[in-house]
Amino acid sequence: MMSTPKIKLNSGFEIPSIGLGTYSTSETATVSEAVAYAIKEAGYRHLDCAWIYGNEKTVGEGIQLSGVPRSEIFITSKVWGTYHTRVEECLNETLANLGTDYLDLYLIHWPVPLNQNGNPPAFPKLPDGQWDVDRSVDLRDTWKQMEALVKKGKVKSIGLSNFSQAKVEYLLETAEIVPAVNQLELHVYNPQHKLLAFLKSKGIVAQAYSPLGSTNAPLLTDETVTAIAAKHSLQPAHVLLGYLLAKDIVILPRSVSNTRIASNLKGALAAAEKLDASELEHLDGLAASGKQKRFVVFQWSVDLGFDNWV
Ligand SMILES: NC(=O)c1ccc[n+]([C@@H]2O[C@H](COP(=O)([O-])OP(=O)(O)OC[C@H]3O[C@@H](n4cnc5c(N)ncnc54)[C@H](OP(=O)(O)O)[C@@H]3O)[C@@H](O)[C@H]2O)c1
Repeated sequence: MMSTPKIKLNSGFEIPSIGLGTYSTSETATVSEAVAYAIKEAGYRHLDCAWIYGNEKTVGEGIQLSGVPRSEIFITSKVWGTYHTRVEECLNETLANLGTDYLDLYLIHWPVPLNQNGNPPAFPKLPDGQWDVDRSVDLRDTWKQMEALVKKGKVKSIGLSNFSQAKVEYLLETAEIVPAVNQLELHVYNPQHKLLAFLKSKGIVAQAYSPLGSTNAPLLTDETVTAIAAKHSLQPAHVLLGYLLAKDIVILPRSVSNTRIASNLKGALAAAEKLDASELEHLDGLAASGKQKRFVVFQWSVDLGFDNWV
């Protein structure tokens, strides 16, 4: 069975560089089977979860089904915006659903506090259709709550997701614990070079979500990617994933197909070895050549401070 290399976090813990994404619109039974297969058969030791995905119970069932001890699996989850003033409550629900008493990594899912009494509860909107953002909540206070969870021993490392440089800098001014990671939309069409360099300078590891372009993997047909794949007898998915791994970015590909789950891990590692400097440079330049694109765009009515938000 394949195993994944690990990357050292600034918290002192190590994170496997490949994790299974668990966001899903698929049938719940499929997700538990996919999780069990990934851990038991394909060698994954890292799962990327979130309270808002609504399927953490199913992921927990998959972990149980795999028979692999909890201590051998790196589990991440994320606090949702409606819980920014009661982070531990969100964590407790996640822990109960996953069937564990600690997380390896807990992230602020988006730097956007939402009205906790809003309607509908998880996706609160105002009558005009805008997100019901709670502008009275300070991200620095939410981070303090994250830090308290580390002190309590309920989470080993804490980090961010969807934080631009400006938002990270805002937190760092008062943070006692430097975030271990920032999970971002990262792929050949949204490489965020400047943000990656900034994170590196602060010792914050970048994690790539939607590395294949999200649902239906639209990046697989990019002609540069397919040409490089053909040259090395790899699949396009391997090139997309290996490109990120070669840049020391943690990748979180999602699949509910056993064949693709296994192939993504094996192929990503093979591609990271095979891609040479000029191919990496070519892939690094795709977005700037006119292909810049994000696939996950929330209309938050908050300026997140990203380059190329839409
Ligand atoms: N922090 C955040 O805000 C955030 C946002 C989005 C995602 N995420 C995390 O990142 C993970 C990955 O992102 P994502 O789920 O948006 O998308 P993704 O991993 O880029 O792509 C998933 C899609 O690609 C297909 N696929 C997977 N491997 C393939 C292969 N080898 N060949 C062809 N198709 C393949 C999957 O279909 P099959 O299942 O049929 O294989 C699925 O439709 C999520 O699951 C979640 O854990 C986090």
